Amino acid sequence: MSSEVTIPVVEAVSANEAPVSTIATIGQHEGQRVTLRGWLYNLRSSGKLLFPTFRDGSGTIQGIVPKAAVPEIVFETLKGLTLESSVVVTGKVRADSRAPSGYELDVEDVTVTQRVDDANPFPIQLKEAGVEFLMEHRHLWVRTPRQSAILRVRATIMRAAAEYFDTNGYTRTDPPILTPNACEGTSELFEMDYFDDEKAYLTQSGQLYIEATALALGKVYSFGPTFRAEKSKTRRHLTEFWMIEPEVAYMDLEGLMEMAEGFLRHIVTKVLETHRGADLKLIGKDEAKLEAIIAEGAFPKLTYDEAHAMLKDAYAAGKIEKPHEYGDDFGSPDETYISSQYDKPVMVHRYPAAVKAFYMQPDPKDPAKALCVDVLAPEGYGEIIGGSQRVDSYDLLKKRIEAHGLPLAAFQWYLDLRKYGSVPHSGFGMGIERCVAWLCGLEHVRETIPFARTLNRIYP
Ligand code: 4AD
Ligand code: MG
Repeated sequence: MSSEVTIPVVEAVSANEAPVSTIATIGQHEGQRVTLRGWLYNLRSSGKLLFPTFRDGSGTIQGIVPKAAVPEIVFETLKGLTLESSVVVTGKVRADSRAPSGYELDVEDVTVTQRVDDANPFPIQLKEAGVEFLMEHRHLWVRTPRQSAILRVRATIMRAAAEYFDTNGYTRTDPPILTPNACEGTSELFEMDYFDDEKAYLTQSGQLYIEATALALGKVYSFGPTFRAEKSKTRRHLTEFWMIEPEVAYMDLEGLMEMAEGFLRHIVTKVLETHRGADLKLIGKDEAKLEAIIAEGAFPKLTYDEAHAMLKDAYAAGKIEKPHEYGDDFGSPDETYISSQYDKPVMVHRYPAAVKAFYMQPDPKDPAKALCVDVLAPEGYGEIIGGSQRVDSYDLLKKRIEAHGLPLAAFQWYLDLRKYGSVPHSGFGMGIERCVAWLCGLEHVRETIPFARTLNRIYP
């Protein structure tokens, strides 16, 4: 059954042979009459001419309403119509090279589905409003063309990310969201009451569970919401975000890095293919920056040691404010500096094991280093992917769990994976919101998800 609302006027109009179109596909009807179902986005007038701009979720289009050319009721209905009133409009499509969408609509008929009250106008005006105000009105802010464009690009990124795995022999397996213990012991978890005296935690990563399904199915991925209760206030941290995680049996770190590059190239290619010239322009993203990512030439790879040496030189040359301490993780300014040296994402691998998670396989050539990789996005967008080869020895993994002070009993099932046909295996996680922020060129991840959850916000 269709869930679409039937608006009587549409039937009347279609009897009049004006097919319903979306603004995005209106070019197919050039020279013809169409019906649009949407909202009044803007209204200008100049004497006996009205210029309403309509939006329908797929784009915006300007209408022309000359008083002399339309029935009086049409002119009077549109004149003074309040912004964001819902309207069904019929008119003739005319190509206009000056129009942002390439077309304009010569309005012939209009029906108002719901008129926004004059005394209570749409709170988001076309002029700039403060971000706090906009976030408080996020349910309405998402209607504005730039925010809608960002959400369309997000949808493309999610589709392309899943598509890469679906078309390369991976099976999607969904890990639980309610878990009995931490995946990465150190991070903070949202705790909730389960039944009786039990506690459950919202998952912070599906990794441990998809290690199990990878040993069952070979190549798997998971894609779902994940949660972090760390009290981070940065522009890169959400408390609820969407993560896509592949996990592959018999794959080593080198294989993982190669796969991550193919994955990112696919996503960027699809974003350009789908949004070039339209949404990306509206968002204000320089498309040349995206072209550079998929241009010929492999993504640069640096070891942690090489990255440290680069930062040392940068500090000596006065290009960064604080020296990087060998052995420490990289801070935000360090990551920004490293990534600014390249126009493609840079893969930093083999970090000191001490700053990374317990499940990472040590490098046989230098066991103080982990066989891990962080992918840093260009232009200072920071870490978008984190992954590693996993410890495959039962004894070593058990020792690591104990050394990290994690409850052994809770990890017995995870240790079982090393008891019954253990193999080298690798995987990574990419946060969708970090990827959207990077590909759209957004300051803050709060604009990359319909309703952001952060340390300070759980409304609306
Ligand atoms: O580096 P992280 O913490 O890695 C893991 O969770 C691994 N278990 C993944 C795996 O190997 N399967 O997180 C992975 C990615 C980060 O690179 C980042 O893109 C994103 O998840 N991420 C966040 N995004 C938004 N807000 C946060 N608080 C995030 N924390 C991590
Ligand atoms: Mg990480």
